Amino acid sequence: MSTSERDQVKAKSFGENLESDLALELLRVVENAAIASARTMGQGDRKYADHVATEAMRQTMDTVPMNGTIVIGEGERDEAPMLYIGEKVGARFPDGANVPGVDIAVDPLEGTNLCATGAPGAITVLAASETGGLLNAPDCYMEKIVVGPDCKDAVEMDAPVEHNLRNIAKRLGRDVEDLVVMVLERERHEKLIADIRAAGARIKLIGDGDLSAGIAAAVIGTGVHAVMGSGGAPEGVITAAAIRCLNGYMLGRLVVNGPEQEERMARMGITDKKRIYEAEDLAPGKQLIFASTGVTDGALMKGVRFFGEGIRTSSVIMTLRTGKVRFIDSIHLDKGPDIKVRFS
Ligand code: FBP
Repeated sequence: MSTSERDQVKAKSFGENLESDLALELLRVVENAAIASARTMGQGDRKYADHVATEAMRQTMDTVPMNGTIVIGEGERDEAPMLYIGEKVGARFPDGANVPGVDIAVDPLEGTNLCATGAPGAITVLAASETGGLLNAPDCYMEKIVVGPDCKDAVEMDAPVEHNLRNIAKRLGRDVEDLVVMVLERERHEKLIADIRAAGARIKLIGDGDLSAGIAAAVIGTGVHAVMGSGGAPEGVITAAAIRCLNGYMLGRLVVNGPEQEERMARMGITDKKRIYEAEDLAPGKQLIFASTGVTDGALMKGVRFFGEGIRTSSVIMTLRTGKVRFIDSIHLDKGPDIKVRFS
């Protein structure tokens, strides 16, 4: 069989099992973005940190054999030079190959301020699915409640905060006073924070990064029991992909501000502005991949460490259909022949 015939055969079977075809390939994408942005840690330039992460993500994506389309990215084509919504990504298949499409939602650097100041919780992250498996959410806010697997259906979007917290506590077999809720520290959350305090629960206020907070809430042992409040809608969709893989529970509702955003929603095919989404609505894919690498230290992943001979990264890759949650510790040895690897 000639190389091109082999390529044709490979391309033909590609995409049938998107998760196993792409999970480790997409790991390289988030790892490289993390390494690039971690080099800028603490430099005080959030835009530059985001730029290098985006560039590294884009470049690595083009080495991955896939017929990818960015559905959530850095913005519309005019405002983002790369990883813009609708952009085609991936290494080319042989001409004429009929390869199934992959939709990709990216946040090349989630927590740009965290990286720029060296604070914990900055990550690089993406989610991928078969075509149509991720909601094309507009770049607006989303009200969110994220909880873990034991709290399925235990919270309601419009229920009083105290009621939700009591239900979460009951499901977790503890008192409300023993719960920790993560909330973005924003003026718009003044009432929410007051309500949580009045109910007696503990709060971890975060400067940025409600996506990694959401993942922490769905993993037992992180010390986070819920995330509440509004954050980015694109981050909400990526969170939903992780929540599905982790069997957690999430509610989201878009916050529409003004006619421009309404128009944008309409263009994206969203007609019901008040709809309350669950994770399955935000990330309905049958096959889902969630990939993330720590840039700075966080609840689940360590930040990027640079040392003499190499670089060490800490990542998580989750897949829905194949049911895998992999914590990956990579040592990148690309600096020459005299390399020493340390176990821990
Ligand atoms: P960036 O990484 O783009 O800076 O976003 C961080 C973040 O904190 C998200 O985690 C969150 O969803 C969103 O911003 C909240 O937006 P805002 O800062 O406008 O409240």
